[in-house]
Amino acid sequence: MKFLLTLALSATIAATASTAFAGGHDGNPAVTARKAHMQIYQHNLTILGNMVRGNADYDAAAAQAAADNMVILTTLNQSTYWIPGTTNAELGDETRTLPAIFESGSTAREIGGQLAAATVALAAVASDGVEAIGPALGPVGASCTACHRPYRISRN
Ligand code: HEC
Repeated sequence: MKFLLTLALSATIAATASTAFAGGHDGNPAVTARKAHMQIYQHNLTILGNMVRGNADYDAAAAQAAADNMVILTTLNQSTYWIPGTTNAELGDETRTLPAIFESGSTAREIGGQLAAATVALAAVASDGVEAIGPALGPVGASCTACHRPYRISRN
């Protein structure tokens, strides 16, 4: 019985591991990773946005956690998934990243720095009430848009 359980467990672990190594699908791993990074930004921003818009009750702990998550995200080393050769020009519909993000004169890094500063400012006031979050959320959203406008294909 114990042996069977162990066998079943190993099979599960093996299956999970092979899915993980395959990335779950055949897409480019750099694209998958950066989209996931963006989705976690969006997830946390939505939590805060819902509180500001009155779609959710203000919860200081939840607001602080979401803001802290955004700070942490900006501190991750993203260099393995923002790489030339993985843009819409090479991979087509799989990615909305425009080649300009990797070309000389790209302001992406600078905008990333602005986002990092804006999330730190947001985290500093996230526990101070919903009226404190609203104004701090503006510069965060502006940094997202500042990068999407020049470097991401817009959805029509
Ligand atoms: C430095 C540039 C940059 C910044 C800053 C940035 N983004 Fe993005 N974002 C992109 C690019 C480029 C893509 C397209 C990714 C792809 O398809 O390869 C993208 C894609 C996305 C997507 C779609 C992901 C998917 O699954 O296709 C979401 C959602 C998103 N960003 C949200 C945000 C939010 C929210 C912020 C701010 C908190 C933000 N982004 C900040 C460049 C940026």
